Amino acid sequence: MVLQTSEKVAVKESDSIEYEVIRVHKLFDLDNSTLADYIADRKCFVVISDKVYNLYGEKIAGYLEKYLRCQYVLFPLEDNENNKNFETIQNILYEAKKLGLGRKDIMIGIGGGIILDMVGFAASMYRRRINYIRIPTTLIGYIDAGVGIKTGINFDGAKNFIGAFYPPEICLNDYAFLQTLPIDELKSGFSEILKMAIVVDRHLFDLVETNYKILLEEQFRNEIGYKVMHMSIYDMVQQLSTNFHEKDLMRLVDFGHTFSPFIEEYSAYRISHGHAVGLDIAISTEIAFLMKLLDKESHDRILKYF
Ligand SMILES: NC(=O)c1ccc[n+]([C@@H]2O[C@H](COP(=O)([O-])OP(=O)(O)OC[C@H]3O[C@@H](n4cnc5c(N)ncnc54)[C@H](O)[C@@H]3O)[C@@H](O)[C@H]2O)c1
Ligand SMILES: [Zn+2]
Repeated sequence: MVLQTSEKVAVKESDSIEYEVIRVHKLFDLDNSTLADYIADRKCFVVISDKVYNLYGEKIAGYLEKYLRCQYVLFPLEDNENNKNFETIQNILYEAKKLGLGRKDIMIGIGGGIILDMVGFAASMYRRRINYIRIPTTLIGYIDAGVGIKTGINFDGAKNFIGAFYPPEICLNDYAFLQTLPIDELKSGFSEILKMAIVVDRHLFDLVETNYKILLEEQFRNEIGYKVMHMSIYDMVQQLSTNFHEKDLMRLVDFGHTFSPFIEEYSAYRISHGHAVGLDIAISTEIAFLMKLLDKESHDRILKYF
């Protein structure tokens, strides 16, 4: 809406935020056209984690070859915190331009939180903003990095310092990727689930507490795991939805993220995001207990995971 007086012209426009996080079974199977239907007749720049490419590249390339009607590039990228930076973003932008990606075309990110954060950020800048699709392949990707609207990179030694609030067109979760995720990465993702359970969802806490062992043994790929992930996603969206742009900085979902950025930075990213969140949860729980804000039983129920 545009308003005017004789002295000023005022613009009042609010971008509505609309996107879906959808579970898709066998996303890259040759008889599943879900992703192709979303892409439709658009050129497509697909950034994929190099590890995911090594494991699933042939299948994904076969899928794109079968379905995509326009030009596309499948671009494997090394994903670690040390190259979650401007140089990598520039490479993505450069390669997208080389493909001739236009304003109505699309970027896709396939990987963990690092790839999703970088592709979202690159899409927020390319030709001033083009659409993008998230395809997470890690537990953190499914229940956290794929769920909100934050994108970004590390900058000058500071974690996620530069970025944009920019929602994807859609986030497609195929949990089959979990079968190759190392146990250490699963535990890393578990910290974010635990965070959610502690701050808003007692039922989720009980569920993971009862099923912790089997969840890890079966890489969350069982009915309880699917339920746990769905509950975590729902809880996260509920929390974010009233405060997408973080005008209120007192966010419950930031539990576990007070000390963790410093742990990540000072370990030169040898300690992963999820593990740093886990350490933060342990420290915060201990502080709350010492300050008599938390009873002994709750303290012990949380700390037994660390
Ligand atoms: N934007 C957000 O709201 C948000 C939320 C949480 C975390 N993050 C960011 O996400 C990052 C952490 O995400 P992450 O834990 O997914 O880490 P990650 O992206 O580094 O992935 C973890 C490791 O697993 C590998 N991998 C990915 N999928 C695999 C698969 N299916 N099989 C085998 N290996 C696989 C990756 O190559 C990588 O080595 C951090 O940079 C964090 O800041 C962002
Ligand atoms: Zn986090």
